[in-house]
Amino acid sequence: MPRRPPRRPDPGLDLSFHLLAQEDLTDPFDPRKAFPEPGPVELEVGSGKGLFLTSAAAASSDRNFLGIEIAHGYARLTAGKLAAAAARNARIIRGDAGFIVGSLLPDACLAGMHVYFPDPWWKARHRKRRVLSEGFLAQAGRVLTTGSLLHVWTDVEEYFDEALAAAEQTGLFAAPSEEAASEPSHDLDYRTHFERRTRLAGLPVWRAALERLATAAPPRRVTASPARTSARAAGPTPTAPGRSDRAVPPPASGSGP
Ligand SMILES: C[S@@+](CC[C@H](N)C(=O)[O-])C[C@H]1O[C@@H](n2cnc3c(N)ncnc32)[C@H](O)[C@@H]1O
Repeated sequence: MPRRPPRRPDPGLDLSFHLLAQEDLTDPFDPRKAFPEPGPVELEVGSGKGLFLTSAAAASSDRNFLGIEIAHGYARLTAGKLAAAAARNARIIRGDAGFIVGSLLPDACLAGMHVYFPDPWWKARHRKRRVLSEGFLAQAGRVLTTGSLLHVWTDVEEYFDEALAAAEQTGLFAAPSEEAASEPSHDLDYRTHFERRTRLAGLPVWRAALERLATAAPPRRVTASPARTSARAAGPTPTAPGRSDRAVPPPASGSGP
């Protein structure tokens, strides 16, 4: 991400529906119960400035979209955009995707997962911190329903190749299929801000969709005591932020929050 701190959302916006905190999630946390309208839930890992979440939520009102973003400022920025758009089918959690996916989400609760330009730690010496580790990918397979897609896009070919090899190792995904780039029809008509930035710089983007297979048994959810939330077992960060067992407030009844 750019080094400039993210813009603060308009202080007049109420972020209470759109911005969740990892420490306030239930254990387990079922994302299908986190939206006012029932519908398949797709998860984005590392939402950054929130372009995917805001445009996907607007384009597919019959689906629900959940983001996880570890950087508080970007999670707030995204929540502000969702609140400004009055999106009822998208929310963002400020937290660690490795911990939330590996330890809080129940089996087969997601109808899709999106990991776009996941992290800056793609070099060999940073392997342990990578979002797309084999442990994370196995947990991603666990939380996805059979037939649903994991989308992986990045501008780092080496990371892409290693992530696809790690996904294959899990035995949970079909061979990757290439995803095509679409021609943008306006300045923000890209999947994410990083895709925009990369393409405007004339650099290549590697894109794949991996279908969750029915054939293999996924690993178990990583159960860890709250004091020892082991994002390590499933994801990239050595220590997950502390959490409590306070529940996420349910969506308001009627037309939703
Ligand atoms: C390179 S940026 C890409 C942002 C966005 N996906 C895009 O394509 O514009 C990677 C994002 O992933 C977030 N991130 C890295 N590790 C994470 C983790 N373990 N859980 C949640 N978000 C994470 C970073 O804070 C950052 O916002």
